[in-house]
Amino acid sequence: MVFSYKLGCCYLLVFSVFVVVLAYGSHGNLPIISFDEGYTQLFGNDNLIIHRDGKSVHLSLDERTGSGFVSQDLYLHGFFSTSLRLPADYTAGVVVAFYMSNGDIFEKNHDEIDFEFLGNIRGKDWRIQTNVYGNGSTGIGREERYNLWFDPCDDFHQYSILWTDSHIIFYVDNIPIREFKRTVSMGGVFPSKPMSLYATIWDASDWATNGGKYRVNYKYAPYVAEFSDLVLHGCTVDPIEQSSSRCDATQSLESIPRDVTRTQRMKMESFRLKHMTYSYCYDQVRYKAPPPECVINPKESNHLKNFDPVTFGGGRRHHAKRHHP
Ligand SMILES: *[C@@H]1O[C@H](CO)[C@@H](O)[C@H](O)[C@H]1NC(C)=O
Repeated sequence: MVFSYKLGCCYLLVFSVFVVVLAYGSHGNLPIISFDEGYTQLFGNDNLIIHRDGKSVHLSLDERTGSGFVSQDLYLHGFFSTSLRLPADYTAGVVVAFYMSNGDIFEKNHDEIDFEFLGNIRGKDWRIQTNVYGNGSTGIGREERYNLWFDPCDDFHQYSILWTDSHIIFYVDNIPIREFKRTVSMGGVFPSKPMSLYATIWDASDWATNGGKYRVNYKYAPYVAEFSDLVLHGCTVDPIEQSSSRCDATQSLESIPRDVTRTQRMKMESFRLKHMTYSYCYDQVRYKAPPPECVINPKESNHLKNFDPVTFGGGRRHHAKRHHP
């Protein structure tokens, strides 16, 4: 009974998301459900506070603990979004994450789609990182990092993940900033098992800011991240038989365009040329050859080389090549 109800509702949900996506190329007016309807607390005791409207949530980090919440359901594909205001001032070592994962179910071959917000020392901006893991591909990080055209502590901004069977798109304020397309060669690296949605704040002193150079300073605690306008708009899947074909509604995904609209693509390109500060595809120190799904864009390559010649290939590698034709 519960299952067939879910399936029916799922069809409608998925269908309506993609009508919206098709019509506007973005995602206004999606239903915002209350915290209690869609989520549950993951950790952090009273460092998670639900506002009186029942929909907005504060997550804080202090010397005792961070905090986090997770969706009640597992999803296979959909649109997941939040408005978020990050803590201001000194935030080195603090990480706020908005992500999908099934790491609690698949220990060895989990999938993950991440938005990570990396705090910084006073006077330096937060950085955003996106990453994708599929089927336990943790040996190859597929990170990208960006700065923003606004201060994410001043106000709420929207961060969204669209996940279909053919691509993953990360959005900031409805502007696509990264598209991760499924290719045949990547095999299991494209996330393809149901995942839950998570939001957390935690102490990442050991790696977040220059590899642990700047640790969380609890003199500035509590660090408070505010979440609102939470959208969970996907195909729910039964947790017991998550790999079965319960998510028939994904068939309606066929009707989504495989690409973002032309205008959105132009905005994405312009964002990446201005704001991207790291992409694994161009990291010549880490990967001798870019992972197979990488499509090298010469403009992006130049932008990153100018930004950081050591990582993205400046003189030295070029020089060596000339001597060994
Ligand atoms: C995912 O990993 C499992 C276990 O390592 C493997 O059996 C399976 O074939 C992989 N799936 C894909 C699609 O690569």
